[in-house]
Formats: sequence, structure tokens, C-alpha cells
Amino acid sequence: MAKLWKGRTKASLNPLADELNCCIGVDKRLFRNDIDGSIAHAMMLGRQGIIPDDEAELICVELHRIKCELESGELEFDMTAEDIHMFIESVLTERIGETGKKLHTARSRNDQVSLDMRLYMAEQIEEISALVKALIASITDKAEENIDAVMPGYTHLQRAQPILWSHQMMAYVMMLERDLGRLHDCRQRMMVSPIGSCALAGTTYDTDREYEAGLLGFARICHNSIDGVSDRDHMVEFLSAASIIMLHLSRLSEELILWSSLEFGFVTLDDSFTTGSSIMPQKKNPDMAELCRGKTGRVYGDLMSLLTTLKGLPLAYNKDMQEDKEAVFDAIDTLILCLKVYSPMIESMSVNRDAMINAVRGGYINATDLADYLTCKGLPFRDAYRVSGEAVAHCIASGRNLETLPLEEYQSMCSLIDSDVYEHIDIKTCVEKRTSAGGTSTDSVKAQIAYARSKVL
Ligand code: ARG
Repeated sequence: MAKLWKGRTKASLNPLADELNCCIGVDKRLFRNDIDGSIAHAMMLGRQGIIPDDEAELICVELHRIKCELESGELEFDMTAEDIHMFIESVLTERIGETGKKLHTARSRNDQVSLDMRLYMAEQIEEISALVKALIASITDKAEENIDAVMPGYTHLQRAQPILWSHQMMAYVMMLERDLGRLHDCRQRMMVSPIGSCALAGTTYDTDREYEAGLLGFARICHNSIDGVSDRDHMVEFLSAASIIMLHLSRLSEELILWSSLEFGFVTLDDSFTTGSSIMPQKKNPDMAELCRGKTGRVYGDLMSLLTTLKGLPLAYNKDMQEDKEAVFDAIDTLILCLKVYSPMIESMSVNRDAMINAVRGGYINATDLADYLTCKGLPFRDAYRVSGEAVAHCIASGRNLETLPLEEYQSMCSLIDSDVYEHIDIKTCVEKRTSAGGTSTDSVKAQIAYARSKVL
């Protein structure tokens, strides 16, 4: 395809240089946004009398037709075009002649590409937010269905204190709620229109940037044209928000991988979200959780790639910035696919209460509660802690647990211990006593579920 910028240079571009320069394979997905932006631009040019009204109208009608044809596949992308902007402008000019050449008045590809990306990312952020909400709903439903399942809570991956499994799952809901906030903030800051910044310095034409921005749904325009074409903060913010969502999915994936192992057996992933081994017939592998964990690294890579690209770039536009799209698109695609897989994977997973409660019984997990019991009886916490530790050591040595240790043996360790100790260290009591706000009691988890339903979803 002929280069629209040909003028100053005479020789044609070296084919390898052309290959390096072309990005239509990457940015063709922006065609709708590019055309929407161009229609708004033509309307502004017509309204301001920069081009005649009837020509603005002709441009808009033809651009609309090009959009429909690209959508239906009737018009194919020309992969020899330099980028999506050049392609659409060339098709337009081929079809309507001289008038088509007027569209690029009072703009540049520098403000055009920045506009296109903001419009595209705004739509994608909406979709990602809806998927995050769907995942919040799936986790909340699963937590509610299994609200009373008790499992060991871990620190250092060692059994620590008994908790409700639903409490642990609601922790992920809280993380995802923050993710929604980050996506929203990022979108808000991004929705500032750069169009009309032109190449970098603004323009001599009597444009109306506010009108054009309003047509495209922007709340305001950027105040500095150099910033308008140089700013990629919204992409960095989006990639960091995307990285944090992936981080959350990755931590949840790690838990699902552990929990679905024979060693834990706390959950069973549905067959439709696991794969088999090509050699070991007994295997059922949690590949989807592993892939979400694995792809987290890829999204971090996208963030690092853009940060590194931008670092050291002088103002204003530099061609290095063409690389921003691959990073952003890759992160969007990866994130959307992982989120889409995640909700049904959670919904179809089964929760194995017996395996969890068996693990709770094995780990002297109520030792803190024994110490708390002694503290209630008047022993200072540090002394209570020591007695409880001795009781655990005694149980380990004699192959028993705290719930079944005979009262005489308890009393030989500390005379303050009475028969009410058993009720105090009963696993269910240990959970239900933790009524502090945000704690693991059933009432607290119910409050968290109600919060998620009323405030987040
Ligand atoms: N394809 C370019 C990009 O994605 C569009 C902007 C080109 N601007 C220029 N001055 N060459 O960044």
C-alpha cells in the first residue's frame, strides 16, 4: 500500500525496514475505535467550518460503511498498510477521492493513536470489571453454600488455627473488590481526550476539542498537547492493575492446586477443568489453575516491557511507543481468558468437608484456644502459652490430641484446668468464638457475604 506520508523522501522504504515499521497485524483490532474517532473528527471539522458540511457528511457516511464492511469481513485488512490509521484513511480516499484527503486536517496520528487506545481500553476495562464481578459472585456463592466447612488456617503453610473455608474464600473477594476499584480509578484518569493535541503543539485551525471529546464520551480534554501525545500513564496503570488481578488469581490457583492434591484433598476440581497425563493413567492435573498461575508472569512481563519502553523517552511522540499496544493487548487477552475460565472452575468445584475437618483434628490447632482458656482462668498469657505448649508436647509424645487428653493429665500440668476445658477447645467453639469484626465466626462470614452482595456486586 502506498505511504500517505510520502513527500519529503523519494526512495521507497527498504522491505525489511517496512516489516519492522508495520503494525497493522497488531493494531487492526482498533478499527472500530479509529473509525469512531474519525467520524467525531469529521463532524467537528464540519461544524467549525474547517471543511464544508457536505464533505464532512460524506466522510462520516463512508467511514460508517467501512466499519460495517470490516465487521462483516466484506472488506479485508491490507496487511501491507503501515498501521490501522493509514489503512482506513487510504480506503476512504480510494472511495471518495479528494474529500477523503481532508479528514486528517487538524490532527496527527500521534493524537489519533492515543485517542484510539483510550477508547479501546475503556471498553476492555468495562468487560474486565464485569468478569471480575462474575468471579466475585461465583466465589461468594461457593462460600455461602459451604459456609460451615471448617479447615485449618495456615501460616508458613503450617496448620495455625481453625477457620471457616468460606472465610478464606471471602478473603479473595476482598482482593477482587480492590481490583475493581483500581480498574475504575484507572479508567477515570484515562478518560481525558488527547485529540486535537495534533503532532505535539496543537493547531492553527479553529478546532473545538471539547465538542469532539464530548461526542466520544470523554469528560474532559487534556490541558497540555505535549502531554496529550506523550502520556502512556493509563497503560502503565492498567497493566499494573492487571498484574495485581493476575497476582490474586495466581495465589488462589496455588491454593486450588494444593487443595486438590491427594495430600490435602480439600477440593475436587471438575473434570472439565483438569487434564490427564499422557503416561500416568491415574493423573488428574489442575492445568487451568497452573496456567493462570503461569500466565501471571506473562502479564508482569507486559508491565515491565512498557515501563522499560517508556523509560528515557524524551517528549513528545517517539516510534518506540508503537510497542505499547502489544503489551496492553497481550495483558487484556490473557486476563480476560483467565477470568472467563475461573468463574466456572470455581462454580463446578466440590468442597470436601471431611478431608478438611480431618486435617483440623491433626494439628493441635486449638493450642491457642487452650492458652486463651487458661488466661480466662487468671493465668497471664505468657504462662498460659507455656502450659499449652507443654500440653501439645505431651500429646505428641503420647500420640494423642488436645481434645481427648484425660482431665487428670491436664490437671497434673496445671491445676486451673477443669472439665469445661473440652468445650473451650472444641473445634467448632474455636471457630464460633472468633466473633471479632472480620473474624472467622459464621456470623462474621455471613456479614462479609452480605457486604459483597450489597456493596460490591
Ligand atoms: N502506528 C503508530 C503507533 O502505534 C501511530 C502513530 C505514528 N506516528 C508517527 N509520528 N509516526 O504509535
